[in-house]
Order: sequence, then C-alpha cells, then structure tokens
Amino acid sequence: MNVLLIGSGGREHAIAWKLAQSKDLTKLYISPGNPGTAQCGENVPIGSDDTAELLEFARQNQVELAVVGPEDPLAAGLVDKFESAGIKAFGPSGKAAQLEADKAFAKQLMRSSSVSTAEGRTFDRYADAKAYIASRDEPVVIKAAGLAKGKGVFVCDDPSDGILAAEKVMCDKIFGPAGNVVVVEDKLLGEEASILAFVDGRNIYVMESSQDHKQIGDGDTGPNTGGMGAYSPAPVVTEGLIKQITREILVPVVDGMNRNGTPYKGVLYAGIMVTAGGPRVLEFNVRFGDPETQPILMRLKSDLLEVLLAVCDGKLDQITLEWDHRPAVCVVMASGGYPDDYQKGKKITGLSEATQLEDVIVFHAGTKEDNGDIVTAGGRVLGVTALGQTIADAKTRAYEAVDMIGFDGAYCRRDIADKAVKTVS
Ligand code: AMP
Ligand code: GLY
Repeated sequence: MNVLLIGSGGREHAIAWKLAQSKDLTKLYISPGNPGTAQCGENVPIGSDDTAELLEFARQNQVELAVVGPEDPLAAGLVDKFESAGIKAFGPSGKAAQLEADKAFAKQLMRSSSVSTAEGRTFDRYADAKAYIASRDEPVVIKAAGLAKGKGVFVCDDPSDGILAAEKVMCDKIFGPAGNVVVVEDKLLGEEASILAFVDGRNIYVMESSQDHKQIGDGDTGPNTGGMGAYSPAPVVTEGLIKQITREILVPVVDGMNRNGTPYKGVLYAGIMVTAGGPRVLEFNVRFGDPETQPILMRLKSDLLEVLLAVCDGKLDQITLEWDHRPAVCVVMASGGYPDDYQKGKKITGLSEATQLEDVIVFHAGTKEDNGDIVTAGGRVLGVTALGQTIADAKTRAYEAVDMIGFDGAYCRRDIADKAVKTVS
C-alpha cells in the first residue's frame, strides 16, 4: 500500500520511521517532510495547505491512505477532502478538529458532556475579559481560543499579568485571528500528563501514557513552547487513573462528538492535570502530540499502518497493540532564543555518531539539507530519543546522544524525565 504522510515535524519523522517498518507498506511519501523523513521514504515538496496538489499527487501515485500529522491542515478539513476524493485518510474531519482549533468549542463540549476541566469563561471583547480578570484575586490562565502552535497559553499568577496577556492576544493580535476569542480559566495545580488514544468513531484504545515539558526552562520555568521533551510511560498515570480518564473524559467526549453530529476518528489527545481532586482536562489536541509521539512510537511494537487502517475502517476493536516495556525519553534540542526569535542555517554536527548508539533515534524537526550538510531550519530542531531499562537509564542514554550533537546556539533542557525518575526511585 502507498501512503502519503503530511507534515514536517519531529512527530512526522517518528510516524514515518514507524510506518516504514510496516509489512503492508509499499511506498511512503512525506509532504513536505524533512531530512529525517527522507531516510524513511520519499519527500515530496508540497505544502500541507496545498490541497489541490496533494490530492493530485495522491491520485497519480496510487496513494491509498493519507495520514495528516499537524493540526492546521486537520482544522482546514484536509481529511474531508481526501475522503471526498475516495482516498482513506487518518485524522478527524475539519468539524471534529474544532476540539483543538477552538478552545471555546472544547470548553462548551466538556460542559455539556460533564467532563472535568478548569472553571472558565469565554470572551470576544477585550473590555469584558479585562473587567472579569480584574475582578479576581487568584491566578488566571489566558488562552487564545484558536491555533497558536502551543504558545497561546499564559499562566499568570498575578491577575494584572493576565490583563496584559489578554491585551497582547486580543488587541495586539500576536496570534492573529486565533486571538479574537480568549478563554480565561482558573489555574489548576498538579502534575501534567498526556493521554493519547486511537478513536475510530466508536471504539477507544488508550496508548501508553506520556508527559511533555511545555516550558522552555529547567524546573518548568519561562514561557510555554511547543514542547521541550517527553517521556513514556508517565508514572503519575496509574492504571486506576487511566480507567478514570477513559470513563470520565474520553468516553463522554467521543459520545458528545457523536451527539453533535461530528463523530471523532483519529488520535484524541487529552492534556490532563492530575490534581488532588482527580484528573482535569487542560486541552484537547486532535492529533499525535509532538514530542510525545517520539517516545510513544519508539515503544510501540505493533504495526502502525495496521492500527491507522483499523481506525479509518472503524475496526479498532479487532486489533490489539503491543508495547515495549522499556521506558523512552525524548530530549528536544532547540535553536537558541526559541520560543522567541532565533537564527537558522546553523550546521549540525555529530548526527551520524549519535545515530549509531543502540536504541537511540535522532528524530528531525526543524532541519534542512544544505549542500550536503544538515542545518537548523526551525525552533525545535531535533528530538533525541532513547529507550532504557529504566526511566533513569533512558534519560542518561538520551543525554549521552544529545552531548554528541552540536550546532551554534543549541539549547536543551537538562531535566527531562526528572519527575518520573524521582517518582519511581
Ligand atoms: P494548553 O495548550 O491549553 O494545554 O496549555 C498549555 C500549557 O499551559 C499546559 O500544558 C499547562 O502547562 C498550562 N495550562 C493550561 N491550562 C492551565 C490551567 N488551567 N492551569 C494550569 N496550567 C495550565
Ligand atoms: N506536546 C504538545 C502538543 O503536541 O501540542
């Protein structure tokens, strides 16, 4: 079977790496891909927003399955377009993708489905948001309702910072129209976890748990990013908690989407805060998480293509998934300055040496080829991922590989997986 994977990040390199091992794969195309995905299949220089060209390419190359990685083309309805053209596509419809693309919609769905989340209000006028925030004396969280590449959330311990954040989002439009509406939430306390599940419209299969590291600095300090590292499994997620999250969050959401007339299929990602009062939803994503996918897929032993097809065909109840018992840790190497401005075009050294380490995969994200060199081309550059016998071992091995790789201004957090190491030791 020929497969077309859409996207160019670390998540897509991980998906491509795993699909390339599938027994039913004939040819894998990745559009536009990156130098990492080029090692798993053939990169095709078509942007993820160029629907007409993607469809034309798929028709001409006998593509039988399209896999849409990122949220923007999902929210724009790319899956619907493939399906209308008679090509199977993995991911939710444009309408179902609103669960991520419109945080006000997600809040509303959670409310109507009795899913626990932070108390919140939605505003489309800055003056109203400001008055509400000013009336509070507890910490607030300000969220641009639309898509903002993981950077649209401001956790403000002081309400006056919340007013400034709302002004930047709603008046200065730092995220463009994604900030036309904001959600103002109570701040939740606890430890975070990412719960990713395959959903085929009806059946739910919860993958192994993971934890992201959203903030730029060690010890969870500084502004939010797309994610600076992840590990799987997350010890904070016990078996009992998985059952509770499935029963109280995933099932009601999948049912709610069916009731809405927007059935959900694809990966449903629940960002969870494990509070003293139980799990609460921070956000939903409608796709594989980045960088969570890198450690999760390194641990998946089953054939990913088979799973994706079972989701598309509504047959998730007919397959079982096998996982490597060993934990995996992914450390993101970023360009200095990220998540603000950063320079590009820096030559990356040490990639081939690091790649030779056993059970280590260096997933590419913001990289490109330049005259035979691999150079930096984005904020998050690489996701260096290792399996280990224990989470501490996986961490040591990931950093060993990180330390073999260099580029001008390279930055990474040094504490990825520390919470898990402390929990299990
Ligand atoms: P989101 O994109 O909505 O998941 O938010 C990004 C990050 O902001 C989350 O991973 C949390 O670290 C933080 N965050 C979001 N909402 C809240 C909240 N209500 N309380 C505390 N932290 C939050
Ligand atoms: N790692 C968070 C995300 O994929 O949005």
